[in-house]
Amino acid sequence: MDWDVFEKLMAGCLSCGLASGRTNVVLGRGSRKEGCILFVGEGPGENEDREGLPFVGQAGRLLDLALSALEFPAEDYYVANVVKCRPPQNREPSADEVKACLPFLRQQFVLLKPRIVVALGSVALKALIDPDARITARRGKWVQKGNTLFTATYHPAALLRDESKKLDFYNDLRSVRTEFYGK
Ligand code: URA
Repeated sequence: MDWDVFEKLMAGCLSCGLASGRTNVVLGRGSRKEGCILFVGEGPGENEDREGLPFVGQAGRLLDLALSALEFPAEDYYVANVVKCRPPQNREPSADEVKACLPFLRQQFVLLKPRIVVALGSVALKALIDPDARITARRGKWVQKGNTLFTATYHPAALLRDESKKLDFYNDLRSVRTEFYGK
């Protein structure tokens, strides 16, 4: 399946109840270059639902700011979410919603063949790396699955609530950069 077919398929997705409340399916943004870094958040919020793009609100600005401060070239990363439609009142997606949507993240994974996947926050960590892991204990650690290295860090929205997480977040992203560029 190529990106065009995938996008058309997703636009009509009715795989879970979140479809009824969405304005847009929020697939992803960024570079579609094979072998890129794939950042995965939780699910679209109000701004993302309206614009059809992930991480365009306050948390997204923080993520973009950190990636640009650390000099990640835009052509090297893609940003997506575990679920592609906005959960009402920005609640966490349910286990069933995550299960219904994961095949679509897997399809993005097949198309991008990312060298590195970074789970942003607990929902992505549990869906992608370890269902029993806790973000505070698991962030900054790496695991290889096939040809891809997986790691996790705090969700940028968590930094808005707790500034003391910022340093760990920056250090985790710095280690992603070192792993990807070797410097
Ligand atoms: N939070 C997320 O997890 N994803 C977004 O796209 C925006 C906020």
